[in-house]
Amino acid sequence: MRHMYTMKNYTILAIDTSCDETSVAVTQGVKILANIISSQVDLHQEYAGVVPSIAKRAHQERIGPVVNLALTRAHKTWKEIDAIAATQGPGLAIALEVGIAKAKELAARFGKPLLAVNHMEGHLLSFLAQNSQGKGLSLEKDCEFPFLGFLISGGHTQLVLVKKIGNYQLVGETLDDAAGEAFDKVAKMLKLGYPGGPIVEQLAQKGDPFRFNLPWPLANDATLNFSFSGLKTACLYQIQALEERGTKNYIPDFCAGFQRMAILHLTDKLEKALKKYEVKQLVLGGGVISNLHVRKRIRETARKYKVKTLLPYNINLCTDNAAMIGVAAVFLAERGKFVRDIKTFDRNPILNFPLAKK
Ligand code: KG4
Ligand code: ZN
Repeated sequence: MRHMYTMKNYTILAIDTSCDETSVAVTQGVKILANIISSQVDLHQEYAGVVPSIAKRAHQERIGPVVNLALTRAHKTWKEIDAIAATQGPGLAIALEVGIAKAKELAARFGKPLLAVNHMEGHLLSFLAQNSQGKGLSLEKDCEFPFLGFLISGGHTQLVLVKKIGNYQLVGETLDDAAGEAFDKVAKMLKLGYPGGPIVEQLAQKGDPFRFNLPWPLANDATLNFSFSGLKTACLYQIQALEERGTKNYIPDFCAGFQRMAILHLTDKLEKALKKYEVKQLVLGGGVISNLHVRKRIRETARKYKVKTLLPYNINLCTDNAAMIGVAAVFLAERGKFVRDIKTFDRNPILNFPLAKK
């Protein structure tokens, strides 16, 4: 079923401070005019993970200059901005607050309406973003509803049934750790640095994925749930044993073995979802999708069911960025879903999609 949308091409200034990137974008309709990402990786590296209080302070220092830079790069003045969007959640409460406070301040100062965006809807709709020349997928030409969304990030692992834009049902989710979190924690155990996902992927290229015997999570489970904590704990025990024995040069093999099991788990559950829900398209989003192997195996799984895989036009749109918030916001604006009362706009660290009825 194809839907017709009459885009009004709102020009939106979008802010995302949900985790450790201070990001501001200017979008026009689904086109990205500017997408500034000020990464805090250097600040969190020595802790091998995000420290919320450090993230908050860095967001506070950077948000003003990043807003100005986004406007300059987009060649837009405040007069040309139709609305301001900010991530409401999910994310770190004290980090989200910085972006929301800035959005409220700017909305009041320049008299602009506000849009409150679900960060995961941003990841889910990032495949609809286009560059300033209109390169990218199009909702009208490329999208067929219902489709299945597969969001794999540092905070979430979700399967979402999308009946239309704005109608989402959560059909599968992790019971404990998210996939990206597992990559990061295993990297931390191996003292590889932060964020661990890209480092594990790189080392895994040179490794033997069959050397270590790691568990396949929820292998005999019929639900669409995910779980990464058992695999993570098994990694911890095996790494401790390898270290105690003084084993040399095991890290690439270990990364390859862990990545193999993580991917088996992701594609096993995807396959179960594709058997259960008849869709023609699979839409991918979230930081872990930047992993080439993850993407390749997911595509192969979808192909078995004659399902087409759709991705953002630029793989950098998979990790956190404010352009995806601007894209999700324009669809809210289309439906008139502006924040009614500025005072009531508050962060929601555990914001989620509605659960599908069993
Ligand atoms: O979507 P994202 O930027 O932030 C959240 O909303 O969580 O995802 C970040 C996560 C991190 O856990 C990071 O390690 C993981 O995505 N990630 C990767 C790769 N690139 C980023 N995981 C595996 N392989 C990668 N190449
Ligand atoms: Zn994210």
